[in-house]
Amino acid sequence: MESGKGPLPILGVNPLVIVGAQVDGKPDFATLAWTGVACSAPPCISIALQPHRHSLKGIRQNMAFSINIPSTDMVKETDYCGIVSGAVEDKVKDCHFTLFYGENRNAPFIGECPVNHACAVIQILNLGSHVLVVGRIVETHVSSDCLTQGRPDTAKIKPLLTAGMNYYGIDARNLGVAFQVGKTIKPGAQLNPPRPLRETPQRPPGSMP
Ligand SMILES: Cc1cc2nc3c(=O)[nH]c(=O)nc-3n(C[C@H](O)[C@H](O)[C@H](O)COP(=O)(O)O)c2cc1C
Repeated sequence: MESGKGPLPILGVNPLVIVGAQVDGKPDFATLAWTGVACSAPPCISIALQPHRHSLKGIRQNMAFSINIPSTDMVKETDYCGIVSGAVEDKVKDCHFTLFYGENRNAPFIGECPVNHACAVIQILNLGSHVLVVGRIVETHVSSDCLTQGRPDTAKIKPLLTAGMNYYGIDARNLGVAFQVGKTIKPGAQLNPPRPLRETPQRPPGSMP
């Protein structure tokens, strides 16, 4: 096995989000690849931003942000939000975004994105080159035309992915059903029992689990 290429923070593929924040009272949006679901109860998402990002300034000002999930129809807009700064350009105007707000006026939503979350910041971790912001999702919108039997449908949402320097959609071959296909490795293996999702009390930042 070839080694000696690391350590590198690579996962191979990342879903893209456009993070929204209200900076000095004005909406700004930044494309981020470094994001992930962090917790289900309470529902949390993490985002990693370089410290000088204009959008991060707004996140710190209001301790709030939005996550907007662009579809594959929005490749150019997503790229644009990742190559210009809201400190210089008006991305809302340039991309012709339709803005809307939920309960928190500091988490601007992009109407053209099929999924929008509003998040309240619960942790900010300075890791080095990036600042990890963990947000608790307080509100979610899914376009009605992206639902199937009332549930978000990935095939309709058409999320945008990045791998290497390119953008991709999910038109890949389905290789199996999650939580099912692995059972063929050892039929009869003791499977993890279903456990209820429980909220555990939060510890002060930096303390050990
Ligand atoms: C595909 C793509 C992914 C990106 N991912 C990140 C990221 O994960 N973290 C980050 O800090 N910047 C990322 N960027 C860069 C920011 O989006 C970019 O610096 C943007 O101009 C920031 O906007 P702002 O200055 O208005 O906050 C990415 C850019 C692109 C094009």
